[in-house]
Amino acid sequence: MTSPANLMFDRLWRNARIATMSADGVIETGAIGARAGRIAYVGADDPALDAAEIVDCAGRWITPGLIDCHTHLVHGGNRAHEFELRLTGASYEEIARAGGGIVSTMKATRAAEEDALLASARIRLDRLIAEGLTTIEIKSGYGLSTESELKMLRVARRLGQERGVRVVTTLLGAHALPPEFAGDADGYIDLICREMIPAAAAEGLADAVDGFCEGIGFSPAQIARVFAAARANGLAVKLHAEQLSNLGGAALAARHDALSADHLEYLDADGIAAMARSGTVATLLPGAYYFTREHQLPPVAALRAAGVPIAIATDCNPGTSPLTSILLAMNMGATLFRLTVDECLAGVTREAARALGLSSEIGTLEPGKSCDLAIWDVERPAELVYRMGANPLHARVWKGL
Ligand code: NIG
Ligand code: FE
Repeated sequence: MTSPANLMFDRLWRNARIATMSADGVIETGAIGARAGRIAYVGADDPALDAAEIVDCAGRWITPGLIDCHTHLVHGGNRAHEFELRLTGASYEEIARAGGGIVSTMKATRAAEEDALLASARIRLDRLIAEGLTTIEIKSGYGLSTESELKMLRVARRLGQERGVRVVTTLLGAHALPPEFAGDADGYIDLICREMIPAAAAEGLADAVDGFCEGIGFSPAQIARVFAAARANGLAVKLHAEQLSNLGGAALAARHDALSADHLEYLDADGIAAMARSGTVATLLPGAYYFTREHQLPPVAALRAAGVPIAIATDCNPGTSPLTSILLAMNMGATLFRLTVDECLAGVTREAARALGLSSEIGTLEPGKSCDLAIWDVERPAELVYRMGANPLHARVWKGL
């Protein structure tokens, strides 16, 4: 911790209980000072601390600003109709194989103008921001052509310019096979590797590349080609893996030093060991587990025992998780997956930052990091996880403001 003496800050939050999420743990009567948008002091409150603007937190809790590290926030239309079909017994995979699923959202997304996609995504983003979100990852994956994948990524970047929130973008061209490539999945993978990834990288539109490794998605061999192209273009990789079956996607991701492997309900011991070795984050998506009425639980105890970092995200998407509450995702992480309160909080702060490769910038309250804060009207952090549908956010700070 920095020494409190004679420090001047742009802004100072005092009289707060602080969950630093760092090795410093909880500070009972604490203060946070910001200079030029960065945390300059985190520690005990002290009358000698001074700043141009002082905020009395009146004993409220401060956590790092929340991070949603896996979303499909930008998309056209919705899939309420498929939801109704599933209620009468159709499975997610059956609907996908019958030409619905991701491909139906692809049609709506291709048909939408950029401004319309922006307007619908902005509504969802504002709900998350209202819960103290300061960083969000947004994937493409419903365009499935170079032009419309880039359109989605452009919308994601524009959201970050419009709203006070950090947007991290991911190219998910390998999400589903578009109809024009029916019977030629390898041809579509060629397009992704030779055209889509280089174009997204050249325009600075993607921070990472993702894929869907699944029977209704792409094979490990196809994903390996996508990963190689991503790396050749200087982009990080991550993977939708072991969501509906076990194809060894997490181990493949780990071999490619992926930032994260996500979903993981069908992950096995080899996958866990590979992830532990590579430091790949397990991003759990309890909203998708809940909404698809999955019964196979991700192997939380084994992940924990192996020391694999665990993040939690909304997976906000029209097909498997139409969820725009990171607080409800935390609640589901605890109730459905048996994560502890600490794990849930770390899952949307420190470990979510790691899943985005941004650990040095966000995710904990430490000097030098971006001053992204969520200030809560709660008596204890467990209340953030415990309630369903409540929002105890008092104030949100992004880059010190
Ligand atoms: O994260 N698993 C693949 N992708 C999304 C669902 C996409 C969709 O059904 O629209 C997911 O669950
Ligand atoms: Fe997803």
